[in-house]
Amino acid sequence: MRQPLIAGNWKMNGTRSSAEALMKAVLQGTSAIEKSEIVVCPPFPFLALGEQVLGASAVRLGAQNVCTEASGAYTGEVSAQMLAEFGCHYIICGHSERREHYGETDAIVAKKLALTIDQGMTPILCVGETLEQREQGRMEDVIAGQIDEIINRNTIASFGQLEIAYEPVWAIGTGKTATPAQAQAVHNFIRRRIADHDPAIAAKVRILYGGSMKPGNALELLSQADIDGGLIGGAALVAEDFLAICQAGGTAAG
Ligand code: 13P
Repeated sequence: MRQPLIAGNWKMNGTRSSAEALMKAVLQGTSAIEKSEIVVCPPFPFLALGEQVLGASAVRLGAQNVCTEASGAYTGEVSAQMLAEFGCHYIICGHSERREHYGETDAIVAKKLALTIDQGMTPILCVGETLEQREQGRMEDVIAGQIDEIINRNTIASFGQLEIAYEPVWAIGTGKTATPAQAQAVHNFIRRRIADHDPAIAAKVRILYGGSMKPGNALELLSQADIDGGLIGGAALVAEDFLAICQAGGTAAG
């Protein structure tokens, strides 16, 4: 049984005071939610605040990105070691917004994963196809390519130490959610792809869905056999909505 993981990706939103208020509301609201593991990923400048507010609570802290290098002359970058020191448990790696706007390739994502794992944290590896790729019938090839590149560069064993988020690019921030059946089909495809290399790791790895997950559709998505949680964007900025999704995770877990 895989415990549901609900992670809020705040992206580049909020102010110091709104971030603090949101963290406090999530902390308060989640004390009643036992069955889901809950994570918030605020922007870098608010991580120290996150460590302070969340402390040793069950709500875990994550970062949205990390540098490909361990340390040195990389102006503007943040290392995995620094993120570990600020209490991060998770790091989102290879989000489609980073692949699209900052040219992150699978090779770059592979380096970020390795450094995250080296520092004792857990990467959330994002994969997903664009609308054009889906319409051209290339969806499975694209996702298989993203997974295989990591297997080739980091070995299959790294999949025993990470989480995956399937985020169809066309569903991110658009209000267009993949239907539960569409999402389940891709999650199952990802799990089978990993099982070809290692069935035990495939059975254990959590595969989260991301893309316009909201309180109204969360339960149905999270009830699918291969959907083990959510990576939430917009709805994670509203405490009430995020908490409702966390609750749905617990309900889906039974
Ligand atoms: P939305 O939930 O806003 O569609 O964003 C999803 C996402 O990109 C999470 O990483």
